[in-house]
Amino acid sequence: MKLIAGNWKMFKGPRETREFCAAFSTPAGVDAVLCPPFVSLPAAVESGHTVFAQNVHWADDGAFTGEISAPMLLELGVSGAIVGHSERRQYFGETDETVARRTVAALRHGLRVIACVGESLEERESGQMDLVLRLQVETIADVAGAEEGLAIAYEPVWAIGTGQTATPEQAREVHAFIKSLLDVPVLYGGSVKPDNAEELLSQEGVDGALVGGASLDVESFTAICQAAAT
Ligand code: 13P
Repeated sequence: MKLIAGNWKMFKGPRETREFCAAFSTPAGVDAVLCPPFVSLPAAVESGHTVFAQNVHWADDGAFTGEISAPMLLELGVSGAIVGHSERRQYFGETDETVARRTVAALRHGLRVIACVGESLEERESGQMDLVLRLQVETIADVAGAEEGLAIAYEPVWAIGTGQTATPEQAREVHAFIKSLLDVPVLYGGSVKPDNAEELLSQEGVDGALVGGASLDVESFTAICQAAAT
């Protein structure tokens, strides 16, 4: 079954979350996950949908202002977390090492994890893509291994929020490369929309999608989930 995760980023407080959740139902044959901001997690969990956080810290508790731990998420009924999103790496100093620490701590607590990797345009064009992806994936693989509950999201940075997707061939190629380093489900992310979802999701090695902008609207997120179910 394909995993379709909606990463809402910093959109939708509790009220809008309740509205979305009431209008959304997961199509049969797909594992649909909603990833709202931290403050909206209780509202989303109460709706009965499967809910992931957008980040999680490696410690159970401690002096880490602004962070949230795995036991706290579990107490709310949250099922998993995204870690290492490129926006966290780009704007908040997340590194391969911190991503790996977050991943392994979350898995040990029984949370599912979507760990994000992806190259920038500059890295792709200068021929460093394989090296960057290898480092990102192997740092996670070294500590977590191909553990149950772990998925990688391949999100080329140049495709996020740009309307530009990887071609099906590019996605197939990179997904195969990632799987050769760490044999877990690999999701594609970066401008996934209802009109390109089916083609991307039908590629070998594309085990689901991590959807940003198009996950904010019930109809478009439902359409993407339906494309995954066919
Ligand atoms: P978009 O689907 O808006 O390009 O965002 C992708 C993403 O970053 C999902 O995590």
